[in-house]
Amino acid sequence: MIRSGADSQSADDSEVYDIEDLSALTPPLPGEVIVTETVDRLIDLLAAELMAQAMLSMRTSGEFHIALSGGSTPQPFYERLMYDPNYRQFPWAHTHIWIVDERRVDLDHAQSNFRMIRETIVDHSGIPMSHVHPIKATSPDAADEYESQLRETLGCRARGSDRLDFVLLGMGADGHTASLFPHNEVLHETKKLVRAVEEPHAQPPERITMTYPLINAARTVAVVVAGEKKAPTVDRVAIGREPIDELPIRGVAPRDGDLKWFLDAAACGAR
Ligand code: 6PG
Repeated sequence: MIRSGADSQSADDSEVYDIEDLSALTPPLPGEVIVTETVDRLIDLLAAELMAQAMLSMRTSGEFHIALSGGSTPQPFYERLMYDPNYRQFPWAHTHIWIVDERRVDLDHAQSNFRMIRETIVDHSGIPMSHVHPIKATSPDAADEYESQLRETLGCRARGSDRLDFVLLGMGADGHTASLFPHNEVLHETKKLVRAVEEPHAQPPERITMTYPLINAARTVAVVVAGEKKAPTVDRVAIGREPIDELPIRGVAPRDGDLKWFLDAAACGAR
């Protein structure tokens, strides 16, 4: 992850940082922080982490429940899982896919997160369709329906495993994660696991989202952030003084689980 310039295999010198540079770049975020030179390397380490977590879940419960985000950062990661031979043994037959948040559009709409996840993973992995849990976001009761499905399915697992195993989140430049946007009242939800939200600044504004109570109950939460546009926000999270209303990503704090950040050097302010 942190590699000296001399050891680097990168063909492009502009992507080579020495070990001191990368250590100095690593921001003091809550949880484990992994910084890589390139997005490609970030995807490698995230994929290896997912594989390790899947194997751990298989050993402890025989199933792996993941919740996946939309957005542009995870897409190449999902693609990598499908074409890289290192992940051919991924236990898709025993994996359940849940959706972190969804736009209130049909499942085959261009803006549907599920559509991207179906096209990148579901259609190529051989995962049983009964293990794929899209949010039927155009249904008026979509949030309650999804919450019931989650409670029913996870509730069948043994005590201690009755939660999501792995939640993959992104972060917007405004500090939102999932569809938990600054100053939205959903940030103060303490009971419901899934909520409908309206966010006038988001495109599209109507969303369904997992809430903090569900996300923070997970065994592992990974936040993946790449690109220089996110660097000022990463700084704000590292300073750690702003309230959750200003910076919703700060509300991600697993109660009895691990928080891991996967950042590329650009998101940490490298030029
Ligand atoms: C979505 C997401 C959202 C996303 C961030 C970061 O539906 O768009 O779930 O929370 O993760 O906006 O998105 P990028 O990775 O595209 O920057």
